Amino acid sequence: MRLQDKVAIVTGAASGMGAATARLFAREGAKVIVADMLEAEGQAVADSIKSNSGEARFQRLDVSSETDWDAAVAATLATYGKIDILINNAGVSGSDPDRLSIATWDRQMSINAKGVFLGMRAVIPVMQKAKSGSIVNTSSISGVVGQTFVHMGYNASKGAVRTMSKAAAVQFARDGIRVNSVHPGLMPAMRTSVMSADPTVRAAMLKAIPMRREGKVDEVANANLFLASDEASYITGIEVPVDGGFLAM
Ligand SMILES: NC(=O)c1ccc[n+]([C@@H]2O[C@H](COP(=O)([O-])OP(=O)(O)OC[C@H]3O[C@@H](n4cnc5c(N)ncnc54)[C@H](O)[C@@H]3O)[C@@H](O)[C@H]2O)c1
Repeated sequence: MRLQDKVAIVTGAASGMGAATARLFAREGAKVIVADMLEAEGQAVADSIKSNSGEARFQRLDVSSETDWDAAVAATLATYGKIDILINNAGVSGSDPDRLSIATWDRQMSINAKGVFLGMRAVIPVMQKAKSGSIVNTSSISGVVGQTFVHMGYNASKGAVRTMSKAAAVQFARDGIRVNSVHPGLMPAMRTSVMSADPTVRAAMLKAIPMRREGKVDEVANANLFLASDEASYITGIEVPVDGGFLAM
């Protein structure tokens, strides 16, 4: 198994790509902390992993809260004794019809960008002590290019994830910590999506994708798995699009 005996925290694991990643990691032998604000859904993901002979625990976590992160790291260490992997996947969508909303900017930066920073800030001291760790931060194609239907706060937050991943990679490489970013393209709509959930908008987006289809959550989970695993032992500071060729155009 590719993650045998590793301990992984996956944020936003109650839904979508986070849930797919948590399930895949457990199948590959990891002990998984299913971290999310959605308690019933997150507990259900952890329960389903356990009912398939995997090891998982739900942890309530608001990624934008420093105290929640402290509690999540303490609970993980108390239960499993170490943290090998952090998948900073939690996020909120950027498709707000009010393109100049300040509230949307603040929310996206607080959860998508500061949440990723707080996650790294919480686990890096633990990984430094172990001289080992792998962090995968979920950015987006929106972290690389602008889009007409996306609030610029989303692009800014995902761009911040892209560059803070590279900064952390170079700053903590000598501690044995690898940090990479994954950039999903058009995927099943997020819970918080408004415009990108609209079938007309999605049809237009599909036309811009060389593969002419949306991605599957497992295709992102597989990229997370490779980067999290020891198979990627000499890979740090890279960005991996999972986008059907969108960014290659
Ligand atoms: N779906 C897409 O088209 C797409 C494309 C590119 C990137 N992404 C990114 O991928 C990641 C996962 O998206 P998804 O499609 O699975 O979306 P989703 O809405 O299905 O899942 C997001 C999860 O994050 C959780 N979350 C939101 N705010 C949180 C907070 N403050 N603290 C803890 N958990 C929180 C939600 O409860 C939810 O379970 C996000 O970072 C998103 O921005 C999504």
